[in-house]
Amino acid sequence: MRALRNDLLLLVNPVFSQGAPRLRAAIARRALDAGMRLSPEEIIVTHGCTEALNVALRAVAQPGDTIAVESPSYYGLLQVLESLGLRALEIPASPKTGLSVDALLFALQIHAIKAVVAVPDYQNPLSSVMPDADKARLVTLCEQQGAGSHRARCSRTRTASIISCASAAARRSRPGRTPPCGGSG
Ligand SMILES: Cc1ncc(COP(=O)(O)O)c(C=O)c1O
Repeated sequence: MRALRNDLLLLVNPVFSQGAPRLRAAIARRALDAGMRLSPEEIIVTHGCTEALNVALRAVAQPGDTIAVESPSYYGLLQVLESLGLRALEIPASPKTGLSVDALLFALQIHAIKAVVAVPDYQNPLSSVMPDADKARLVTLCEQQGAGSHRARCSRTRTASIISCASAAARRSRPGRTPPCGGSG
């Protein structure tokens, strides 16, 4: 309402489908705190994390593909996978250290996994936090897997193997920590 009082034209101006440029620039600046160097063009503003997961999974997977998820994981993620016709492959997660990177490594050797959805910090429902070394291993693993032909093209010149989905309502990620959700294609 305050923004509308200052600029009534906001009601009639066309909207940007990726989100308001000033908001995307502000998010890019905030992402620096979490160690992420992003340009505003790499950011898409969504209506919450569920839509972000939908967009991210649609970018990297087709119906019938297998997606690795933490077990247990947030029930809403399983609903998203079902609605997109994707198959969930459970990877064990511990209440203390979250996703087992060793189990993921093993699963990658025997399954064609198109993407991994992980919540490294304060996982739902376990509240686990992955040790920084495990997060680094997970990122390296996803980057190695994404080096093939399954990368999501996010602009004409760049490809992405890590897609982070973060909620403005959630606490800020601390430096050195990866953001709440990530996928690799
Ligand atoms: C891991 C995880 N992903 C997604 C969501 C849903 O987020 P949103 O309400 O922003 O769609 C939640 C909500 O608790 C969550 O814990």
